[in-house]
Amino acid sequence: MNAGDMTSPDTEFINILGTASSGTEGVPERISSRSVPDVLPILGLSDIVIFPGMVAPLLVETSQSTRLIDDVVGGDRLLGVALQRKPDAENPLPEDMHDVGCAARVVKMLKFPDNTVRVLVEGLWRIRVKSYESQTPYLKAKIEIQKDIIENSIEMSALTRNAQTQFQEIVKLSPAMADQVKIAALNTDNPGHLTDLIAVNLNLSLAERQQMLETASVKERLTRLLPMLNREHEVLALSSKIQTDVASSMSKSQRDFFLREQLRAIQRELGEGDIGATETKNLRDQVEKTPLPDEARKVALAELERLSQMSPAMAEYGVSRHYLDWILSLPWEKMTEDKLDLKAARRILDEQHFGLTKVKDRLLEFLAVIKLKKQIKGPILCLVGPPGVGKTSLGKSVADTLGRKFARISLGGMRDEAEIRGHRRTYVGALPGRIIHALRRAESRNPVILLDEIDKVGADFRGDPSSALLEVLDPEQNNTFTDHYLDLPFDLSRVLFITTANWLDPIHPALRDRLEIIELAGYTESEKVEIARRHLVPRQLDENGLSPKIFRIPDSTLRPLIRQYTREAGVRQLERQIAAVMRKGALKIVSRNGKAKPVALSRKMLREFLGPARNLSESAETITEIGIATGLAWTPVGGEILFIEATRMPGKGTVTLTGSLGEVMKESAQAALSYLRSQSKRLGLDLSDYASYDLHIHVPSGATPKDGPSAGVTIVVALASLLLKRRVRSDIAMTGEISLRGRVLPIGGVKEKVLAASRIGIKHVILPDQNRPDWEEVPAEVRKKMTAHFVKHISELIPLALRPK
Ligand SMILES: Nc1ncnc2c1ncn2[C@@H]1O[C@H](COP(=O)(O)OP(=O)(O)OP(=O)(O)O)[C@@H](O)[C@H]1O
Ligand SMILES: [Mg+2]
Repeated sequence: MNAGDMTSPDTEFINILGTASSGTEGVPERISSRSVPDVLPILGLSDIVIFPGMVAPLLVETSQSTRLIDDVVGGDRLLGVALQRKPDAENPLPEDMHDVGCAARVVKMLKFPDNTVRVLVEGLWRIRVKSYESQTPYLKAKIEIQKDIIENSIEMSALTRNAQTQFQEIVKLSPAMADQVKIAALNTDNPGHLTDLIAVNLNLSLAERQQMLETASVKERLTRLLPMLNREHEVLALSSKIQTDVASSMSKSQRDFFLREQLRAIQRELGEGDIGATETKNLRDQVEKTPLPDEARKVALAELERLSQMSPAMAEYGVSRHYLDWILSLPWEKMTEDKLDLKAARRILDEQHFGLTKVKDRLLEFLAVIKLKKQIKGPILCLVGPPGVGKTSLGKSVADTLGRKFARISLGGMRDEAEIRGHRRTYVGALPGRIIHALRRAESRNPVILLDEIDKVGADFRGDPSSALLEVLDPEQNNTFTDHYLDLPFDLSRVLFITTANWLDPIHPALRDRLEIIELAGYTESEKVEIARRHLVPRQLDENGLSPKIFRIPDSTLRPLIRQYTREAGVRQLERQIAAVMRKGALKIVSRNGKAKPVALSRKMLREFLGPARNLSESAETITEIGIATGLAWTPVGGEILFIEATRMPGKGTVTLTGSLGEVMKESAQAALSYLRSQSKRLGLDLSDYASYDLHIHVPSGATPKDGPSAGVTIVVALASLLLKRRVRSDIAMTGEISLRGRVLPIGGVKEKVLAASRIGIKHVILPDQNRPDWEEVPAEVRKKMTAHFVKHISELIPLALRPK
């Protein structure tokens, strides 16, 4: 076994004698030496000698020793520890061990992922091994306790007193020695314990330590220690002189340390207390003044106690201080009063967002429930929709309507559970998780917290953030949410959580179950014009230092800007393009040199500023060949247009599908083909030479993976066009699933798909008959410009979609 490393805060007791135990005796009161069993498991130590009263960390690596520790911890926690004669023997035999060791108790055990174990042991009594009872699975020996032999003589008192004074001198001269040792040195009057304390803290070799352990006579121990104490004292006195001399060449950290020590000394002289003490006093005031729950206060006071024992120069001091700061800075008891005026709420929502009537109604209903119930213990709102439709900014508006503080947590790409819940303090540089961070930012324990992009949480070996989120969002358990770093429960039940997502599929099912979904579809062109005029343009004018008087974008330019320079469901690209024309416009105004003539953005300037129009609608995408059909698809970023192509070449009657298609789409293609073949006679298809041709179906722009059954109808039309040698109409787009018997089945995302079609100027859409109700959901403005054809059966498609020959 090795002495454990000292980086873990659990190892702070190293080398401190007499503090972990209860009395000045240095022997814990709960265990009497009589209760030590006759037989103890024996753990071999390679580089440390443990003395009674000493607390030390050990690193346990071999499986034999791990087994021993496991058994001991499961039982009475007592074991014997002894130095090995052969330090590197992995599984030492009886003859490899020194006979005298120490009975010890396991105070703490920590298991690490690499299968090593760290234990904190406390030495209790000297023991001598009488005989070994067994060697497997680990050494067990019959032992006897070895009592100190203390003679009562004047010479003994003199030796003791001498050793005590010398040791106190040494302690004073070595600043790095822990305060506890200094206190123990003053308080130990039992000569036996004094010698052990000195042996532990003096710079002795392993052999010398073992010899000290083996010596039962305290007088002999003292006689041996005194010359060493003398020597050490001299060395320290000399080195302190050298140190003063070479102070100028000292490293910064050493200098700081000494300066701080000096400052403390000066302050002590002036009766002002030292820095540590002033700081702890300030902190104590804060702990007393800050409203804290009882449990947090208890922990804060305990931490303060630890802090007051440390020197500000220790690394541990900073860690402890940081922790206290976190406890003190959290809004444990701070709340804001809710404004629950529904009229005002509606006004705020309307002011900040144009349109979205249904969404706002749902939000107001939700607010009304809060008003009635006072407590939010219901489902969590989840705003779902394509990018840039205002999900994030609506979340902020909800906070405004309630008059609550707002904090946003972006979950996009989060893979580590610790990001939600924090790291345990044993990690170097540990911090609380995002939830606690957000609360600190919000400065209130009832803020609105927006969990943005909940569909983009990932999971890997570092744990699943979703499971932590589940706890955060569960009203039954989130009143005792415990962050790993704080290690204290924080009541989240007053927090109003709102989540956002682009789509629901990737969300953990248990999490989704808890969400109340509010869908936001994309905007129509007219809505975009309104949003731009009321919100985006004024905001961008402001950001670019322009005023509406000198720079104007008339509606007649906004429309082409939207139609030709953006292609999206939301308004994010639009806002970027508006910003771009304003930057260029600003340049124009400035370069006119004083003559600030107002600029109104014309179509011509649009082309000048943004280049030639990018999204050519209508005319450019006319279908000129047979075998191509326009489909409509749903994606997390909104509706999309999809061209499906079919070709035929001499071959053996096989069918190939390309364009990164999912399994479901491939099945749709097979179903489409089977249907056409079975109905060839009725449709007038000549398939007599079917076996001598290969068919190839391709869905271009293959970078975006496509799946879902809704392309079935489009594939049928593309194939029919190819086989009947009739072109598909350019102004028609379609969507629908098909069955083997030729029925057209309903699909999802109608609203988004139709909006996408209208964006590129499609005039007719073919939809499954069962999707009629969804058509009603499409904004009237779009329906006015478009004709919907509802079909029940594939046979209705051909007359609708194909041009006459
Ligand atoms: N109806 C609206 N009225 C006014 N502004 C709007 C509206 N919809 C969106 N915006 C504005 O558009 C911008 C983009 O919106 P936001 O960032 O909230 O989108 P999002 O839905 O969260 O998108 P993402 O899914 O990409 O996060 C914001 O500046 C927002 O204020
Ligand atoms: Mg967002």
